Amino acid sequence: MTEPGGLATPRAAPETRRAARAMREEAERRARTQEPAAPADVVSFELPTDDFAPASAAGASPSALPPELRVHAAAPVGRTSGATAPAPPRVRPRGRAARETHRKLGERRAARAAEMLEVDEHAPPVRHAQPRRLTRRLAVVAGLVTGGALLVGSAAMTAMMLPPAAGDPTGAATSLSAQLPAVEQLPVPDVQQSPPAADICTLPDVVSALQTGADEAAIVAAGGGEAFRAAVVEGRASCVDLGDSSRVWAVVDKARPASPIDYRPVGLVLPDGVRNVEGGALRSDAASALSSLAAAALASGVGEIALESGFRSYQTQQETYGRHVAERGDGADQVSARPGFSEHQLGLGADVVACAGACGSLDGLAATPQGQWVAEHAWEHGWIVRYVDGATPVTGYLPEPWHLRYVGPELAKAYHDGGWTSLEDFFGLGPAPDYLG
Ligand code: DAL
Ligand code: ZN
Repeated sequence: MTEPGGLATPRAAPETRRAARAMREEAERRARTQEPAAPADVVSFELPTDDFAPASAAGASPSALPPELRVHAAAPVGRTSGATAPAPPRVRPRGRAARETHRKLGERRAARAAEMLEVDEHAPPVRHAQPRRLTRRLAVVAGLVTGGALLVGSAAMTAMMLPPAAGDPTGAATSLSAQLPAVEQLPVPDVQQSPPAADICTLPDVVSALQTGADEAAIVAAGGGEAFRAAVVEGRASCVDLGDSSRVWAVVDKARPASPIDYRPVGLVLPDGVRNVEGGALRSDAASALSSLAAAALASGVGEIALESGFRSYQTQQETYGRHVAERGDGADQVSARPGFSEHQLGLGADVVACAGACGSLDGLAATPQGQWVAEHAWEHGWIVRYVDGATPVTGYLPEPWHLRYVGPELAKAYHDGGWTSLEDFFGLGPAPDYLG
């Protein structure tokens, strides 16, 4: 006999059938006399209920189970079903038949259990490599997640510790830090004030440069034009005398005459390659610088720059100032220095004009390309425009776009970079709008 599912029902041996019939007859007799069935007859083919836990959990009905299993599912051993009718008698197979029945039943149970669990019972034993591999993968994923969390946490801490990015003073643009809770500004520890800078005249290179008259080298040894200027202003340049007419940093104005009053520099030369209207000379360093300036202007395409007036001696300045007084009277002091008070007497002043074939006038320079170029580029060659718009209260002179003063490359750069408009201010001196006596 074969079940629809292909499973054969157990076939009992003849002696078993006789015994069963005897037991059935005994049961019928007891039923008629209402005697209880013997408990020992009920125990057989008990299955551990755990074997079918998946099917029970899925709501499998007893009819879906093989016949031998339906018996147990419908009337578990030792349980009361609540029915008044006594359970049907069961027989216990004995001997070889019983062992064979057990074996076949065990196979069927295994097959059905595998079917219900959707497990191929003929498949090779499950290898533990897959679970272990899965475990390893899970461990890797967990590690990556943990590492990512650590990185995010570390980035968050870094964002909190870093200053705001440039252009983002509030740090609001830092998305990560913006999401973090605000932290109190840590107190800035007191920083001990650094000691005041030393006098530049304690520097051996400054001293030695001064001794040889190498003014530009001394400025460089002091740390450059701005460092030199700062040292002078702060009183840390004890060996620097702004009243020394022989120095490139000499200041001569209405309050600060040349020293001596008829001072005459040494080493006056004619600048090379520069048209010289009056045949004036300059100090050698200034002469070289004017040659450089004129050459640069020509190379830039703005045209020729010529020297109108260079060094003027004390006597020459007397004649010059006298002409202005004759023309302007008291107004001469706004356009011409008195003898002994002119930068031209130092050999460091140069009045320049623009030439286009013929040379123009001093007053006409500002309106020429050369005049514009001089205003922008003279500093690159060691020159400054000494008298400019707005500085008359300090210098005592009306603007003179043509009057250039040589101070050397270092100081000229510092002057330009600092946006200074007068040497008086540059060196922290008081204004010199007029003569003292
Ligand atoms: N024109 C300038 C001030 C001089 O005479 O030196
Ligand atoms: Zn001049």
